[in-house]
Amino acid sequence: MHHFHYSGNRLYCEGVAVESLIRKYGTPLYVYSQRTLTERYQALAQALAGVDSLICFAVKSNSNLAVLRALADLGSGFDIVSGGELERVIAAGGDPRRCAFAGVGKTESEIEFALRRGIYTFNAESEPELERINRVAARLKRRAPVAVRVNPNVEARTHKKITTGTYENKFGIAFEQIEGVYARAARLKHLWLRGLQMHIGSQITEVAPFEQAVRKVRPLVARLKERHGLEFFSIGGGLGIVYQPALASGPAAWWRSSAARGMITPQQYAARLQPLLQPLGLKILLEPGRFISGNAGLLVTRIEYVKRTGRKNFLIVDAAMNDLIRPAFYEAYHEIVPVRRRAGAQIRADVVGPICESGDFFCQDRPLPKAEAGDYLALLSAGAYASVMASNYNTRSLAAEVMVKGRQAALVRARQPVKAIWAGEQIAPWQR
Ligand code: LLP
Repeated sequence: MHHFHYSGNRLYCEGVAVESLIRKYGTPLYVYSQRTLTERYQALAQALAGVDSLICFAVKSNSNLAVLRALADLGSGFDIVSGGELERVIAAGGDPRRCAFAGVGKTESEIEFALRRGIYTFNAESEPELERINRVAARLKRRAPVAVRVNPNVEARTHKKITTGTYENKFGIAFEQIEGVYARAARLKHLWLRGLQMHIGSQITEVAPFEQAVRKVRPLVARLKERHGLEFFSIGGGLGIVYQPALASGPAAWWRSSAARGMITPQQYAARLQPLLQPLGLKILLEPGRFISGNAGLLVTRIEYVKRTGRKNFLIVDAAMNDLIRPAFYEAYHEIVPVRRRAGAQIRADVVGPICESGDFFCQDRPLPKAEAGDYLALLSAGAYASVMASNYNTRSLAAEVMVKGRQAALVRARQPVKAIWAGEQIAPWQR
């Protein structure tokens, strides 16, 4: 389910016409649906009601303060990967005691900051990191709660750039070495061995890889609980979402069709994993990002030019790969729909941005409704790994972001003024 739909021929986010947002805030513009965020979070929470669980929203997928606040208000915890993300969570009203700090390269100052703020766990990815956390904790005269990330060496069957749970990847510690690592970590006086963590990849669209990983790690986590008194087991994030065309059929049909296409639902995920997890008697942490935020956002863009070359049609729009890099980086598919539907012919076109790179496209040779310069398009499912991966390439400002709830809309990130892009730069003294 999501809450973008047509009413008449106009695209709406919940009760707000996207055109009215364009008039007020311009383009490129990210639009988020709070109701979608809420329902996604709740669907997962309800499906997992049978186990003691904590959902830690993966902040990296969408770190806008308003998104974080919406989730904090629902009781969500957060999966963070930098001191900056922890500061954001705190600024948004989230609770550090419900935060898990992941990542292979935590610095001393990040560790110190998180420790002072009472983080729930550091998910450590190497022995040198455990030693560093121990040292910082000793200096602060504290015990640091830690979990070690196990690499279960299972294939997540997703895009190679977002697979993380095989021995080809830099993440975690090999399954076979974990018990030795816990035994050594137990001798470090300032560590509190609180849990075990894993994460096998992102945009996983079937339950089997999750189930395989949980089955493999279960005996290990049971032994570690016995020996070291672990309190939690984090099974990571990675639940995939539907990116394929869906809007035309309406939200309800879309949800049914996602199940029909074999796409994972929270109910299936919970039904298959809960029976494996329950007997462990541990708190279960989840780190979903995309599942909660992915379908909750879209990127609105204006067609600046329609260009016909000998062989192709190009719709040149005012958003670019600096705003949404997923198509360029992962060949990712984002559905593209008109903000105002018109009856009429279809064309085959590439939708491209103004950046000077051939990779600056949102789709290639895709059948689209015929459109003209001045029309607006929406790129769907742009709530996760979209605005957060934006850059200032070509000295392009970061786009504005709007949150919608029912009939209300609010600017939750102002468009970046162009001068802010070089505000930290200066001429070298010898150039003056
Ligand atoms: N936990 C850990 C340790 C992670 O590394 C990630 C994502 C998550 C949780 C959340 O995964 P999710 O539930 O969102 O799949 N930029 C890529 C995705 C990178 C994912 C990185 N790690 C994309 O645009 O597809």
